[in-house]
Amino acid sequence: DLPPRVRIHEVGARDGLQNEKATVPTEVKAEFIHRLAAAGLTTIEATSFVHPKWVPQLADAEDLFPLLGDLRETQGTHLPVLVPNARGLDRALALGARRVAVFASATESFAKANLNRTVDEALAMFEPVVARAKAAESAHDQVHVRGYLSMCFGDPWEGAVPIAQVARVCRALIDMGCDELSLGDTIGVATPGHVQELLATLNEQGMPTHRIGVHFHDTYGQALSNTLAALQHGVTTVDASAGGLGGCPFAKSATGNLATEDLVWMLHGLGIETGVDLGRLTATSVWMAGQLGRPSPSRTVRALSHQ
Ligand code: HMG
Ligand code: MG
Repeated sequence: DLPPRVRIHEVGARDGLQNEKATVPTEVKAEFIHRLAAAGLTTIEATSFVHPKWVPQLADAEDLFPLLGDLRETQGTHLPVLVPNARGLDRALALGARRVAVFASATESFAKANLNRTVDEALAMFEPVVARAKAAESAHDQVHVRGYLSMCFGDPWEGAVPIAQVARVCRALIDMGCDELSLGDTIGVATPGHVQELLATLNEQGMPTHRIGVHFHDTYGQALSNTLAALQHGVTTVDASAGGLGGCPFAKSATGNLATEDLVWMLHGLGIETGVDLGRLTATSVWMAGQLGRPSPSRTVRALSHQ
C-alpha cells in the first residue's frame, strides 16, 4: 500500500549548496529558499551551523537565517538546520531555530572524515545537544530534532555496510530522543532490495516507520526506485533537493540528491499528494542553475523546461 501523501524534506539549500565550488551569495540563497516555499515546500533545510572552515560554503549561516524570518512567522515553514555539537546548537538557538538535525555515521571511516570522531564519540557529542533541544516541559516549546544517519548502505572506504551496524546507530539516535531519523545513502549505491531489507529489519526491531525518512543520492540512478521501495514499507518522509543539487565534500563519490522534481513527477503520477507546484519548482531550479552557471542534472527539470 502506498501513502496518500508524502512529506518532502527539501535539502537543496543545505546539502546542495554545501557542495558547490563557488560560494553562492547570501541573498541568492535567501531568494532560493523563498522560491522553494512559494512552490509549496513546507520543510526546507536552510543551512548548517558547523565549523566554517569545514564547510565554507555555509559560513554565512548567521547572515542567512535572519533573512528567512518571514517564512517561519507568517507561513509556518519549517526551516531545519544542521548542528553537530553544543556550539552549533548555541548558534542556531540564538537565532531562534526551532528544528535542528544532528548527523551520525554508520561507519567509522565517514565519522572520522565528516566529524573528526569515532561513531561512538560522535553519538556522545550529540547526546547533550538532543537533551538540551528536548529539555522544555511542553512539546510545543521543545526543539524538533532530526537524526541523520549517513552511509546506511555503502561506504567509499569500507564497501557494503552491514545492516546490524546501521540498526545499532538508528537505535542509539532514537533512544537519545531524536523525533525522526533520516537514512542516508550518502554515495548513492543503494538498490531497492537493500532498502527493503534495511527497513524490514528496523521494523522487526520495533523502530517506528512513521518516524523514518529516506535520503537518497542519485549516483547510480536508483534514487527513485529506492524511494518507491521505501514507500511500500511505510515511509512517508522523503528527502530531495531541487534540481538534483548536492553531494558531500567529505565523501568523494557522492553526487547530487534525488531531484525534488523527479520525485514530485513520480509521486503525482501515483496520485500521491505533495502540495508542490511542479511548474514553479522547475522554474526555481532553472533560475538556480543560471546562478550556478550549469544546467540542472534533473531529467524532469530538463524535460519540463525544454533545456
Ligand atoms: P573539530 O576540528 O574536531 O572541532 O571538528 P573541535 O570540537 O575540536 O573544536 C575546534 C574549534 O572549532 C573550537 O574553536 C570550536 O569552538 C570550533 P577554538 O576553541 O579552537 O577556537 N567549533 C565551532 N565553530 C563554529 N561552529 C561550530 C563549531 N564546533 C566547533 N559548530 C566538527 C568537529 C564537528 C566541528 C567538524 O568536524 C564539523 O564542523 N563538521 C561538519 C561536517 C559537515 O558539515 N558535513 C556535511 C554535512 S553531513 C552530510 O552532508 C550528510 C547528509 O546529507 C546525509 C547523507 O547524505 O548521508 C546529512
Ligand atoms: Mg546528503
